[in-house]
Amino acid sequence: MADLLFQRCINPACGGTADCADTAFRCPRCGGLLDVAYDWNRLPVPSSLKHFESKWANRSNPLDFSGVWRFRELLPFAPDDKIVTIGEGQTLCQRADAVAAYCGMSPGRLFLQYEGMNPSGSFKDNGMSAAFTHARMTGATRAACASTGNTSASLAAYCAATQLMRGIIFIGSGKISYGKLSQALEHGALTVQIQGDFDDALRRVQEVSRQLGIYLVNSVNPFRLEGQKTIMFRVLEALRWDVPDWVVVPGGNLGNVSAFAKAFFELRELGLIARLPRLAVINAEGAHTAYQLHERLGLRWNGGAFDAAGVSGYYGELDATNRKPDTLASAIEINRPVNLPKALRALDCCNGVVRAVPDAEILDAKAKVGAGGLGCEPASGASVAGLKRLVAEGVIDKDATAVCILTGHVLKDSDETVAYHSADPATFEAKLGKRGVKAVSFANRAVQVPNDLDAIVAAIQSQR
Ligand code: F0G
Repeated sequence: MADLLFQRCINPACGGTADCADTAFRCPRCGGLLDVAYDWNRLPVPSSLKHFESKWANRSNPLDFSGVWRFRELLPFAPDDKIVTIGEGQTLCQRADAVAAYCGMSPGRLFLQYEGMNPSGSFKDNGMSAAFTHARMTGATRAACASTGNTSASLAAYCAATQLMRGIIFIGSGKISYGKLSQALEHGALTVQIQGDFDDALRRVQEVSRQLGIYLVNSVNPFRLEGQKTIMFRVLEALRWDVPDWVVVPGGNLGNVSAFAKAFFELRELGLIARLPRLAVINAEGAHTAYQLHERLGLRWNGGAFDAAGVSGYYGELDATNRKPDTLASAIEINRPVNLPKALRALDCCNGVVRAVPDAEILDAKAKVGAGGLGCEPASGASVAGLKRLVAEGVIDKDATAVCILTGHVLKDSDETVAYHSADPATFEAKLGKRGVKAVSFANRAVQVPNDLDAIVAAIQSQR
């Protein structure tokens, strides 16, 4: 292959390729997932990660301001004049000692990578700016996704901010939080609410996009994952280019874990880092396909020859027993992760582990994160709950450096947060109790007082 840049089947035994402009996002030979592949020998790659610090002085250029595109030499698929940015990736990697203590880790060892600071409030903007750029390169005028809410919010925001494309979003009925739905509606996306869950919506959007020639921005699109690599570049930047021992990430459709491993793998290939971190993927117990397959059934990447029949068998069993995903962490309420093969490769490459945590632990971890000053949504809390488990199991050492990814903002799902802290048993029951959460540990209950000055003063003084 003479091209500098192309799409390549992730299965080395297949070796299928597709042109960069191809938007089918499936290997033309075997139907498998594709990577964006580069001929790095013929591309200008910096000799040290410190090179990227020079971009900070040039922040008046939107491409150097963007937390995605200031690393564009590491995702070099677009000419500068085609790049779409709305200022994504101005995120924060915060040292979090109180959360570290909660997880059983030593001070100074845990960092929270807060992707809630993105323009649409989640990590999705990293990938959306990359997918949108590719869509623009291919001349697309419509872009679609299925979503548990954040991808759709992000797509809608990019459509509205750039006016380059019409956004069409597919959501499962009753499966999306109001915060996220309100973003899609407010930004003017065509919103298609289908009867079913995310897995149903994803299947349909792929069919519809193929039939109508609409550009698909779900994470089966490898250009999305190129943007999501930059979350790891920013983590390294925050850690002064030191590689952490562990990166802990919630797992839904398994795009992030796949993108993160690709980022580290490529950096090592380019001689820009000396070692890879380990990866931990955290499922919710109610949507634990990756955990079941990787940890319980021992499914492994096996150089690309993973047991696909075993995976089909697992899905067949889900169908036969009509088991649907069910978790309060609605962003990761997914039973059929589309990036499963890539995630297996990522776990293999980065010596990864998968865990599944119950909703009550997710919500407690989320509250601990909030008490430390960064508000995140339930799916993000899963990473911290997972870290706590892995420290308790002795898999992650208390003195290791770990980074938990907080994928979305607390305001994405305020209903659950209010119910968590509610003093009203009916509110708690309606939102959390009914879904299996019996008790929570860190509720900050509002104090009820009569409209009387003395009573108000007494109530405040009694709380000191
Ligand atoms: N955290 C949040 C807040 C998410 O919105 C998602 C996925 C994930 C974690 C899981 O990430 O798929 O890379 O493993 N949300 C998708 C959506 C599915 O439609 O917004 P993943």
